[in-house]
Amino acid sequence: MTAYTVNYKDIATAEVFDSLSVMTSTFLHRLSLDIMRAAGNGNEYYVALSGGTTPFGIFKRTPLGWGSPFLLRRLMLYWGDERCVAPDSEESNYGNTHREWLNKIGIPAENVNRIMGENDPQQEAQRYASLLRKMPQKNGLPQFDLVLLGIGEDGHTASIFPDYADLLHSRELVAVTKHPGSGQNRITLTGPVINNAKNVLFLATGERKIPVLKDVFSDSEKARGFPAYHIRPEGDLRWYLDTASGSWYKK
Ligand code: 6PG
Repeated sequence: MTAYTVNYKDIATAEVFDSLSVMTSTFLHRLSLDIMRAAGNGNEYYVALSGGTTPFGIFKRTPLGWGSPFLLRRLMLYWGDERCVAPDSEESNYGNTHREWLNKIGIPAENVNRIMGENDPQQEAQRYASLLRKMPQKNGLPQFDLVLLGIGEDGHTASIFPDYADLLHSRELVAVTKHPGSGQNRITLTGPVINNAKNVLFLATGERKIPVLKDVFSDSEKARGFPAYHIRPEGDLRWYLDTASGSWYKK
């Protein structure tokens, strides 16, 4: 189970897990319960998945055949961001998720709403925004039940990089950005959509995330320049850490 839980100023809860296997079983157990709860209310469960490599820890440990057909029929998948590459590229968030997770759990294809990285970025951002307008709304914005996020060492999240902090308050639902290092075009949900979520879950594992986590959880001046620091959803804000990334916190 969780090694220990940190309540951060009533803003966020950080759970530090002894192993990625325990993190995975906890993630999948809670996801199942949440989908069943939504189904009990006659609703589907809308999730925006994170990109990057951290989710692979959960994807690789997800048992083959996880999730009953009843459950998977009610899980509607989207992405928080995508690289502007073809879906079969090793850079593709959709491609990696499909390879590492989707083809293990057998979710219905019609429930998978990928960002088409191979399309013109601006046109695709508009297409994806129109797709989001068809999902449940609240406050005049699409409302996800769960947005899964990672955090970069520069404090970015999704593809909202520090130079794009204005997207935290954008009037757009989806925007085009450029990775500051590679210049790669990215398509990303904007801050208002992410912050409109009922639940936001950050996954951050490994020692290389210690500096950025220490800044975020210590409210440092530097952290205020991190887009991830400004993710403050209406609902639950939670961090899943492992004993490496969470090692900085001393009870
Ligand atoms: C992406 C992600 C990005 C990622 C962080 C952390 O498309 O790369 O959306 O925000 O979550 O950069 O990446 P790692 O999980 O690889 O450390």
